[in-house]
Amino acid sequence: MATSPNPSARSKAVAKAETVAVAPPCAMVIFGAGGDLTKRLVAPALYNLVTARRLPDGFRLVGVDHGNRTVDEWRKNLTDMMNEFVAKRDGEFQADRLDQAAWKWLTDRMTYVQGDFTDPRTYSGLKEHLAGLDKTAGTAGNHLFYLAVADRFFSVVVAALGTAGMVSEEGGHWRRVVIEKPFGHDLPSARALNAAILKSLQEHQIYRMDHFLGKETVQNIMALRFANGLFEPLWNRQHIDHVQISATETVGVERRGKFYEVTGALRDMVPNHLFQLLALTAMEPPISFDAEAVRDKKAEVIQAIRPVKQPMRDAVRGQYDAGTVLGKPVNPYRREPDVAPDSNVETYVAWKLQIDNWRWAGVPFYLRTGKYLRRRWTEVAIRFHQAPYTLFRGTHVERMNPNWMILRIQPDEGIALQFAAKRPGPTMTLGNVSMDFAYKSYFATAPSTGYETLIYDCMIGDATLFQRADNIEAGWRAVQPILDFWAGNPGKGLATYAAGGDGPAAADELLTRAGRAWRPLE
Ligand code: BG6
Repeated sequence: MATSPNPSARSKAVAKAETVAVAPPCAMVIFGAGGDLTKRLVAPALYNLVTARRLPDGFRLVGVDHGNRTVDEWRKNLTDMMNEFVAKRDGEFQADRLDQAAWKWLTDRMTYVQGDFTDPRTYSGLKEHLAGLDKTAGTAGNHLFYLAVADRFFSVVVAALGTAGMVSEEGGHWRRVVIEKPFGHDLPSARALNAAILKSLQEHQIYRMDHFLGKETVQNIMALRFANGLFEPLWNRQHIDHVQISATETVGVERRGKFYEVTGALRDMVPNHLFQLLALTAMEPPISFDAEAVRDKKAEVIQAIRPVKQPMRDAVRGQYDAGTVLGKPVNPYRREPDVAPDSNVETYVAWKLQIDNWRWAGVPFYLRTGKYLRRRWTEVAIRFHQAPYTLFRGTHVERMNPNWMILRIQPDEGIALQFAAKRPGPTMTLGNVSMDFAYKSYFATAPSTGYETLIYDCMIGDATLFQRADNIEAGWRAVQPILDFWAGNPGKGLATYAAGGDGPAAADELLTRAGRAWRPLE
């Protein structure tokens, strides 16, 4: 299999081990500079990269948007937002104070180009602007285009960059494009989008982002599995009974009704975020941490998901009704803004899937995700087989609890191993105990939005944590039978659940019929 075509691509392990790991000079162009994503995540992540001394002197940030604003207005807008984050401490950016020198370092490097994404003049203007920066600001001719725009503009912007001759990598300069989710709406649209952008770009220039891969604890799944000799021998059907992957949320659809009505929980979370957790948990060991080696193994395991034959049996969809979430009463989904009063869109999905390969044959993977549930909780829980009972016959041990390994992604990041231990006393009785590793008690962590690593990796040309075209298509291919079934049978099997609860009862049945149960959301 090909290795990364970019000579500057280095494995993350190597990059992390270096003492000085400053990104190469470049101009980062954000399409959608006035948008929510730029404010909430990209600007704070860049600020965190400045404080971590990861950005070079020859870094420049070029905002592009249709809004008619000056660069000072753009700066002010972002500064206000950062100050608000600090004051409220409720955004993705968490800090006690804004380091004024670091923020000034960044804002001094900002420029702004106003233009419509569909207008060729935007690109000719931008091209000239970038040529100017390359000459005067030391950006070395390297350009990173970040598409923080609505998905309908992805192929429009890429095609226009191509037509304007802005993405050809000549003279040793690199040109990269970051594309956010949603990458397609289903398999045909994802394929069409890949085909469209590959007309202007080569695969190694495309960084398809899934922000779950920026979460430290998601990356830690690979470290846990492949940096330790202890777990991997147990990581297979001989020792594992089943796996539960949960991403439950305490937020509703908020102001995203329009988006959610054409998306739903399955599209929004499963072929992307949940499949990343699944892939890292279930993939075969790669031969190296090179981007292609890792992505080959991830693609393989997603391709091995057994095509769903009985969506009614194996997948459950739910929609939240009125309820109380974290002590606050909330409306049913159907009364959210921009949501149809008879909407059949799911805000919850659970799915039992099988991976048809040697390692996992017969081991079910249960996935669940939903809005307005009891707890915000993202984890991978691995349940090992029960120990044989024989030894405990004739003792006071009536029922033995199985062993679990819990990889906690958020909140409260860590890893727990649950097992049985003898309770003190003259009789043999067992108690459940847990060996618990909490990230925060071992490592000092810098504030992070999760985007820092991803943006930095684009700059150093390490695509390990990004989705390749085949990975994306494999994800959509796996969910397509469920999407098709639901589209063809509107509302069939859609269960409601009280907001603030555990999700629909039908989701429990996915497990109870096999004598299993979801880990309680407590
Ligand atoms: C986004 C989805 O991609 O991920 C949201 O569109 C969801 O609906 C979010 O809330 C979850 O991400 P996180 O990082 O908050 O777990």
